[in-house]
Amino acid sequence: MAEMLENFKRSHYCGVLRESDIDQRVTLMGWVQKKRNLGGLIFVDLRDREGLVQIIFDTEVSKEAFDKANGIRGEFVIAIQGIVKMRQSINDRMPTGKIEVFADELKILSEAEIPPIHINDDDNAGENLRLKYRYLDLRKPKMQKKMIFRNKVAKAARDFFDEEGFIDIETPFLNKPTPEGARDYLVPSRVNPGHFYSLPQSPQIFKQLLMVSGFDRYYQITKCFRDEDLRADRQPEFTQIDVEMSFVNMEDVISINEKMLKEVFKKTLNVDLEIPFRRMTYDVAMENYGSDKPDLRFGFELKSIDDIAEKSSFKVFSSTIENGGTVRGINIKGFESSFTRKDISKLEEYAKIVGAKGLAWMKFKDGEVSSPIAKFFNEEEINELKDVFNVENGDLLLFVADKKNVVLTALGALRVEIAKKVNIIDEDELNFLWVTEFPVFEYDEEEDRYVAKHHPFTSPIDEDLHLLETEPHLVKAKAYDIVLNGVEIGGGSIRIHDSKLQNRMFKALGLGEEEVQEKFGFLIEAFRYGTPPHGGIAYGLDRMVMLMTKSESIREVIAFPKTQNATCMMSSAPGLAEQKQLDELSIKLNVGE
Ligand code: AMO
Ligand code: AMP
Repeated sequence: MAEMLENFKRSHYCGVLRESDIDQRVTLMGWVQKKRNLGGLIFVDLRDREGLVQIIFDTEVSKEAFDKANGIRGEFVIAIQGIVKMRQSINDRMPTGKIEVFADELKILSEAEIPPIHINDDDNAGENLRLKYRYLDLRKPKMQKKMIFRNKVAKAARDFFDEEGFIDIETPFLNKPTPEGARDYLVPSRVNPGHFYSLPQSPQIFKQLLMVSGFDRYYQITKCFRDEDLRADRQPEFTQIDVEMSFVNMEDVISINEKMLKEVFKKTLNVDLEIPFRRMTYDVAMENYGSDKPDLRFGFELKSIDDIAEKSSFKVFSSTIENGGTVRGINIKGFESSFTRKDISKLEEYAKIVGAKGLAWMKFKDGEVSSPIAKFFNEEEINELKDVFNVENGDLLLFVADKKNVVLTALGALRVEIAKKVNIIDEDELNFLWVTEFPVFEYDEEEDRYVAKHHPFTSPIDEDLHLLETEPHLVKAKAYDIVLNGVEIGGGSIRIHDSKLQNRMFKALGLGEEEVQEKFGFLIEAFRYGTPPHGGIAYGLDRMVMLMTKSESIREVIAFPKTQNATCMMSSAPGLAEQKQLDELSIKLNVGE
């Protein structure tokens, strides 16, 4: 039976008691981690969010408490009162290991059934089970640490922006569709039958309007919603630290954000980041690393061998060049012996998953080249290859031939996969990089038109404005992404603040006058009434915390995340709506059986 607290008031968290508390009478409350009965003594490890402490029930101290303690089991919620004593057998692995508490009062506040997962860091329950019982999973010390750490990061960012004069303003969740590129979550409107709100993919338009309103510096830590295919670093709802500033250029935005990151990392991880961070243009990142978010903690840069490929007698290579493609490779320096033929076949399978048609290779060992394609290259060509990749004994070269974007993507993914496999990544390194000069447009093959690479409010760089209508693919943007260890943790841009230019942009994106008016008329109109130059950035808070806590996925740093299928294992959301609700919303379903 559940007892009431009555006059009990907690005096300390369990995990904070130390030698300095010896002889104090304390009142503790928490969950029973473990109970051992040693005849006249019962030992209980009591747990709360700050840690564990050992409680002793001794017949000599209180027979009544001892008898009651006999009935407790794991995960019971109890309250005890007692005296802190020096511990008989000191446990150096526990922060409270020098003391124990002799209890003379016990209240059983709540009984507990045997939990379906162990409340232990080394519990190896599968993720689905963990998510089904998330409230129990979150009792684990490591999960508690992650949530508390996440709060620290958000607080440090908040404090920074607050001190710098940024104003936290809330923006609506019920909106018209935003053009961030992903699919919207729609919410039907009851009072406007047939009409829908969309949940924000980001507060983008509103933060720009706040600049038009003159707030000058805005930030918000807020939820965003995107109905996209989920991965380890993507959730349908996630949290952005969203920032916008007026009267600034790209350098201003970058420098204040470097200051913010430096302060947040100092306050939370106690590391000193060196700023300014390294920068790289999008083109260089793609050419050298096959990615717009390169992980620079290791090398394996991509190199072109088009000249050699063209003249070689290896048909796969020479015909690729003839057809306007490219052949590029990476040198897995010093790791030749780590890859058997079977390993290389596995790499080839991986290369195919990421879009390549095949994977050619050459091993260099004892001054010899070993490779199924070596016979197609004469000595001079082999020497040229060696020069390009700076080959030494022990190296392994891998090549992909195809259209340029296929080659870059495949090699970019391979270099990361291989770096993980050969274990050369220093897990303690924090490698920050700004990627700049993104193209404004990206060609969408499916839709057969240009789409905005960042979003349609991103300003082109001044020198490229004249190319907007004629050669859009050449136009570069005043956009920047912040990359940490190969993960894009944030991105932003300087915006267009001129309604005429914004209109040209929409046109270049193939949006008709009517569509623009319908979707963004209010924004273009707003720009006509006096708009300061402005720009900003948004961080994925979940991704930042994932990297900072070295977690495998962002689900590990979100209290109640969704699965890869965008479902909640616990509540089994999304659910069906009742007919009455559908009727109120004027919705008829069209779902197959
Ligand atoms: P962007 O779309 O690049 O920019 O988003 C900013 C950052 O949000 C994070 N992020 C995600 N995190 C988890 N799950 C997702 N599904 C997800 N999608 C994005 C990423 C990303 O870098 N309005 C612009 C910002 C601006 O221009 O100021 C925007 O939203 O870490
Ligand atoms: P094949 O001539 O198709 O038997 O291929 C010979 C070798 O070249 C195999 O190791 C293939 O994996 C490799 N290969 C085939 N196509 C490509 C390609 N597009 N890029 C790189 N290597 C390839």
